[in-house]
Amino acid sequence: MMELLHKLEILDLASLNHFLYFWLGLSVISGLIILLGKQLPISNRIENTFIRKLGGSIDKKTGWMLMEVPILIMVIYYYVIGDQPLNVSAVIVAAFLIHYFNRAIIFPQRIKVKGKTMPVISMLASTVFYIINGYIIGHYFGSLTSYPIEWLYDPRFIIGMTMFITGFIINIQSDNILINLRKPGETEYKIPYGKCYKYVSCPNYMGECIEWIGFAIMTWSFVGFVYAAWVVIPLFFQARGAHQWYKDKFQEEYPTERKAIIPHLI
Ligand SMILES: NC(=O)c1ccc[n+]([C@@H]2O[C@H](COP(=O)([O-])OP(=O)(O)OC[C@H]3O[C@@H](n4cnc5c(N)ncnc54)[C@H](OP(=O)(O)O)[C@@H]3O)[C@@H](O)[C@H]2O)c1
Repeated sequence: MMELLHKLEILDLASLNHFLYFWLGLSVISGLIILLGKQLPISNRIENTFIRKLGGSIDKKTGWMLMEVPILIMVIYYYVIGDQPLNVSAVIVAAFLIHYFNRAIIFPQRIKVKGKTMPVISMLASTVFYIINGYIIGHYFGSLTSYPIEWLYDPRFIIGMTMFITGFIINIQSDNILINLRKPGETEYKIPYGKCYKYVSCPNYMGECIEWIGFAIMTWSFVGFVYAAWVVIPLFFQARGAHQWYKDKFQEEYPTERKAIIPHLI
């Protein structure tokens, strides 16, 4: 174990890039699995799925935290032990950590999911994904790259950071609308309205995608691009599944002009 940790600490850029090609391929496969497994996008809402029978279920709030906290720990650990001086990377890593602090610590406290569970297998699969991605982000920005201070004025940084902040706001705003649909103790699903729900069924996913595409642009790195692919590909297919689920559940009550994730298009 210690030997593995040491190897991870000294992994060079060429080796990391090789792994990233494999990791990118895996993100495409995960998207295909979601596409093919018609029930997967909304499997959290189905009590009797195969993966629940196989691995059991865990309380939803606890599951969210166990799933997402590892990425915070991995990024902080590998960034702090890195040999890069405190530089522009710190701004990039701070943006990353702010997003995941909300997702891992604040979001699970706020969701109204009394008595609800998630499949343990889904939780464990996501935990592995977050551990690996946390390592990649922390190690890359802590040890393998360095940006000059002028990068803060580069159009790629400014455009990417603007997209990241815009996506973050849309994501939180849309999550808030969903959370506020339920009164305390309620667990049923309703039609969300307002803000970006006017255009799409899953503006929270749309915001998240804008954020990570922005992250790829502001870091102008293969790591950033691969991370964006890991978020955008599954969420794109999940949004299509959730959109169909809303249409099936609410039928003619559901706003017909609303798309899944890209306004006026998809
Ligand atoms: N980075 C990534 O790869 C990634 C992956 C997945 C999710 N996320 C992010 O994590 C956040 C949550 O994702 P999610 O897939 O759990 O989102 P979600 O299905 O939209 O659910 C979010 C919360 O709102 C509730 N909810 C959803 N639709 C509702 C409705 N119509 N009426 C009442 N309550 C409703 C859900 O309750 P139930 O729990 O009862 O369904 C859940 O507590 C999003 O911001 C998403 O972008 C990120």
